[in-house]
Formats: sequence, C-alpha cells, structure tokens
Amino acid sequence: MTDKIPDTIKNEIEKLVQELNDHCYRYYVLDSPLVSDEEYDRMYFHLKHLEEKHHYVLPDSPTQRVGAPPLEKFEKVKHTEPMLSLDNAFTQENLVEFDKRIKKILKSDQDIEYTVEPKYDGLAIELTYRRGLLYKASTRGDGYQGEEVTRNIRTIKSVPIKISDDGNMSDEIDIRGEVYMDIRDFEQLNKDREEKGEPVFANPRNAAAGSVRQLDSSITASRKLHLACYGIGSVKGFEFKTQGEFMQWLKKARFPVPTVIETVTGIKQVIQVIREIEENRKGYSFETDGSVVKVNSFDLQKQLGMKTREPRWAIAYKFTAHQGITKILDIQGSVGRTGVITPFAVFAPVKIGGVTVSRSTLHNWDEIERKDIHIGDTVIVERAGDVIPHVLAVIKDKRTGKEKCFPVPEHCPVCGAKVVREVGEVAARCIGLNCPAQVQEKIFHFASRGALDIEGLGEKTVELLFSQGLVHNFVDLFRLRKEALLNLPRFAEKSAQNLIDAIEKSKHTTLARFLYALGILHIGEYASRLLAKNFGKLGDLYHVKPEELLQIRQAGEKTAHTVSEFFNDEKNLNALDELQKLGVQITNPDFQGKEEGRKPFDGLTFVITGILPKPRNEIEEMIRRLGGHTASSVSKKTDYVLVGEDPGSKAGQAKNLHVKTLAYDELLEMIAQYRGKDRLF
Ligand code: IVH
Repeated sequence: MTDKIPDTIKNEIEKLVQELNDHCYRYYVLDSPLVSDEEYDRMYFHLKHLEEKHHYVLPDSPTQRVGAPPLEKFEKVKHTEPMLSLDNAFTQENLVEFDKRIKKILKSDQDIEYTVEPKYDGLAIELTYRRGLLYKASTRGDGYQGEEVTRNIRTIKSVPIKISDDGNMSDEIDIRGEVYMDIRDFEQLNKDREEKGEPVFANPRNAAAGSVRQLDSSITASRKLHLACYGIGSVKGFEFKTQGEFMQWLKKARFPVPTVIETVTGIKQVIQVIREIEENRKGYSFETDGSVVKVNSFDLQKQLGMKTREPRWAIAYKFTAHQGITKILDIQGSVGRTGVITPFAVFAPVKIGGVTVSRSTLHNWDEIERKDIHIGDTVIVERAGDVIPHVLAVIKDKRTGKEKCFPVPEHCPVCGAKVVREVGEVAARCIGLNCPAQVQEKIFHFASRGALDIEGLGEKTVELLFSQGLVHNFVDLFRLRKEALLNLPRFAEKSAQNLIDAIEKSKHTTLARFLYALGILHIGEYASRLLAKNFGKLGDLYHVKPEELLQIRQAGEKTAHTVSEFFNDEKNLNALDELQKLGVQITNPDFQGKEEGRKPFDGLTFVITGILPKPRNEIEEMIRRLGGHTASSVSKKTDYVLVGEDPGSKAGQAKNLHVKTLAYDELLEMIAQYRGKDRLF
C-alpha cells in the first residue's frame, strides 16, 4: 500500500513527523518551545489524519507514543551488561578516601579526571536502540534482569524514539538513565489522588516508579514523567573514550541529560562542584538527594572494575537529609473542591534546612493510623526535595500519655455539614452542597492551568470575589464586569482589564479541558480526555447512562457512575447551557469518531513469540491499528499466536490450548486478504 501513496503525501507526513519531533524536543528537553500548544495540537491531528487516511506511519511518529492495550504481566529482560548500584559517600573524607583508593589501584599519583552530576531520585531505566530506533526499555530489576516497559517508556515525550545522529545507525546501544517526576507534578498528582480518595505516593521517586510499572500504558501516558540519561551499557559500533564525551554525544543526539555535567580534575574540584549542586538544588524542579562522581576515562573505568554490586570508579555523595524535630500542636482538616477533607498537622515552628516549617499535610486518616500520629506527639519532620515537609515518624519515647488522637470529624470544619467516609474509601468527604470551601476550590479549579486557564484567577482572587459576593459559582465568572472589579481592594484599571481579558480568552476551549474544569468526582485530566475522545460534543453527554460510559474500554464503574450522575442532574445541565449562552465555545480536537465499519482484526487477541522480521513494537502497533489486541501470555482467549524464529514456550502453550499459530508471512497474508491484496508493510 505504501507504494501507492503519492510522494507529496509521503513528504508531507515525513516533514510533519520531523517538525513535531523538533517541537517535542524543544518543549520537553530544552524547555524552550517555539509554538503554542494549540499549534502543536493542530499539526499533530493533521498528521494523525494523514497517517490514518494513507496507512503510512513512520516508526518515530509522535502518534506512536500513546495508547496500547493493557498487558497481563511484564516480560523479563536480561541486561547485556549488569545495571549496577553505587557506593555512598556521606562526608568529604569519604570522597577523599574514594580518590585515594582509585589512585592506589591505578598506581598513579596524578590527579584523576572526574565527572560530577546531580543524582536523580527516580527509577533507573535501560533504553536499547537498534539501528537508531528505540527497540526495548527495561527497568533495573535486580541489576541483571529487569522488566520490559517499552510501551510505557515510549509515552514519555522526552525519550527519543529515534536517535538524532548523522553517524552510522546500524548498531546497538544501551543508554541508561533515571525516569523521574518533577516535584510540582508530584504534588499535583497527589492532590488529584487525594481528591479522588486514592492512596497518595510517599515521594516523587515512588510516584515515578509506580507510573512506569503500570500494565496499562495509558496510565503512564497520563503522568508527567521525565528522563535524565547518564550512563552507557552494552554498545556495538560506537566509540566513546570518556564519560564526558559520551554525555556530549547524548546531548547532540537529543537525549535529555542531567542539568549539571561537569568534568573536573582532582577531588578538590569535585568537592567544589558538589557544593555548588547542593546550594543550587533548591532551584531544581526535581528531587535530588546527592551528586554522582565518576572517573571520566572509560579505559580507567575498565581497569578499576567493580565490586560485587558497585563499580569502583563511581560514588554517590549523599546530601544531609533535611530533618527537624518538633511537636504537633494541632491536627485540622482542610476541605477540597470535591469535599474531601485532608488532615494536616500544625507544628511548633521549626527551622529545617533554613526554612521555617509550621504545617504539613498528613494525607489521609489511613496515613495517620499507619504512622500512629496523635496531637501532642513529638515527631521527626523531613523536607523531602527541599519542598514538601512531611512527618517521617513519631518519637514514641517522648509520649506523656496526654496525646490525643484525631478521629475523622463528624461535621465539616468549614460548613458544618455531615462528613461521610464510604466503605473501602480512604477519603472522608463533606457532603454540604453549598460548602464555601468546596465552592471556592471548585471555582479555583475551573480557572486553573489544565482547566480553563484563566490567568490571574488564583486562590486569593477567588476568595476575594467569593467573599464580596461577586461570584457564587463558576458561571458567575462570565458575568463579571470590570466596573464591579474596580470597587474591590486589590484591583486597579489594568489588573481589572487583564482579568476580564483572561476570562474572555478562556471562553474558547476544548471539550477535554472543559470537562476537567467541571471538577466532576473521579474525572481528572486523563479521564476528561478519554471522554472527549469518545463523545463528539458536550451535548452528547447530556443524560448519558452509565452503560454507555462503560463501553469505553478504560472507563471504570466509579467514573461511569459519577459522570452519568452529573449529566443527569437538571441543575448542572442548566448551568452548562448558561455557560454556552454566556459565550463559552467548546471545540473537540480529541474526538476519535465512531467506528466506521469493522477493522480486520476487531476483537482478535494475538500473542507474539520468537524473533520476527520487524521489531516487536511495530508488529504490535500494526495489529492494534487493524483493531486487534496483543497480550503477553497465551490463554484460551488468545485467537492467534504469532510465532517467529527461536520461539519461547508460548508456541507449545498454543498447541496445548488449541490456539492457532501463525508465521509472520501468514499474518501479512491475512491482512492482504482483508485489504484486497494490499500490503501494509
Ligand atoms: S551513574 C554504576 N548517574 O542512582 C551505576 N546514577 O543509587 C552508574 N542515579 O542505580 C549510575 N542519578 O539509578 C548515575 N547522575 C546519575 C544518577 C544515577 C541517579 C541512580 C541510578 C543508580 C542509583 C544508585
């Protein structure tokens, strides 16, 4: 079929892929985008349309990053070179000893060249590239064998699918790095989870690891993950002499690398760079608990070799954890937009790492119980990543017997309405419909960045507008007049005009953003986009039944229930009509349309085993595009097992379970039959 595509279309697709990949690189790696999100989306959907129309999809197309059917389990992957861990240094003396050890082994009294980088606190990943294309991604596991997470890693936009290099791409290279989550995104994720009554992640590292180790890659895709590459595994056909040279190559090949990579001579200079990193780390967007020092020369690294699990040529210097001891004076509850009550501790103010800490979230009552936290307890407080303080542990020896527990309140601390905690739910919720805390939070959420993005409408402004009676709900935002704002304390001509302009601008939005803005229980950014993909316009959701929502593969019972409840409430529907009357216009670029006719592999499940003529992810993608589904293990529900060279036990399992087996050619033949003899690949 590719032969029949006019060159003009092929060129257009190739140009779009290249341009979109350039924009992605600028946005996610360099952090300096050239085009707006809208412009990017426009190009993306145009590409998607062309790809679908002409069945011509390049392996590094950005459309290939999203969506894959959930796996049943992770496949195991053996690392060609083991993924080692690092020895730790806690003091300058430890670093000096490390340097001495190296000189002794090398029998040298010359200063050694080292590289110094921040230590990223995330999940170590190995990326295997074959002939320049991302072929496999795996976790560290026990260092020798990890889990295959290719489809999940592909969803991380800063991970190159194709190596950008003019050199010879016929070889294979393993690149190692850390997948991590920025502190802000971690906090937002936890906030969303708290509101949904889901358990929160203890730190950004757990959040990153939990997001990568997902059988459903669409969940990974919905999390904001980053990568920092810092190491090399097995390599064929590439020649690097030093870590510094390799890092330069990584940068040139468009891999995201650590914010600091310094090459220095002698341990004194190493200590100096570490000091600078420690001082600057407050400004980093990610959590770092140390710096990594590596011998620069790969030759010397080889000579130094490794101990059981750690190399002799590298060490992690750990920064002192920022901890403090204080007393919990009180525990109170704060009410979020969905009514979830989050307990927080009020401390006797304590200085930790130069910052005074006087409160911290306790997340939920399960957490209070797990850590056995009482009012009056003396606790160790830690400021992880220099930003979020949390209670690490209670010092039980300091108990006097006067400590009090803090049960789930019976009434909302803000409006006094009843508080309920449903069976099996972690969260306690205020059910007061007009609870001012909820209303203000709802308006604030409606205007927030991922929602209608009304610039200048922060928490303080919402509070002011609400307390002055100018807005009672988010519909009122579109009734605001400049004159009314000018009567308020914090507004002058310019700021009032800016807010009115920002509200005006927000009237043009997408269905995904709008649905998210509504703040329906369990409907975060991911679920909103899912709804937008499946419903063409807002009106199509009016009076929707849970059964219709459950047709969407990823939609669960809870989502179906709350969405249906929301869109069957006449008051809500009136408010939505009112918003549209006030000029809110909703487009839906995410809509994927209803199925037009059947696809050849609709409803069929394939399992792949053995070595095939194309990379496995390309074959899986082809099956998916044709409506099929791929699974990782053979069961009675499997329709076909695609058997390549050197097949694993799955071929035998297929036989035992009477599941049909197919060779690659037979698969192509099947497709050709459906497609009227057109070949797809
Ligand atoms: S180099 C031989 N560089 O820290 C191991 N590791 O605690 C070479 N890590 O397993 C690793 N940032 O997952 C290296 N800039 C960095 C790093 C880094 C984070 C992780 C890595 C390693 C762990 C050891």
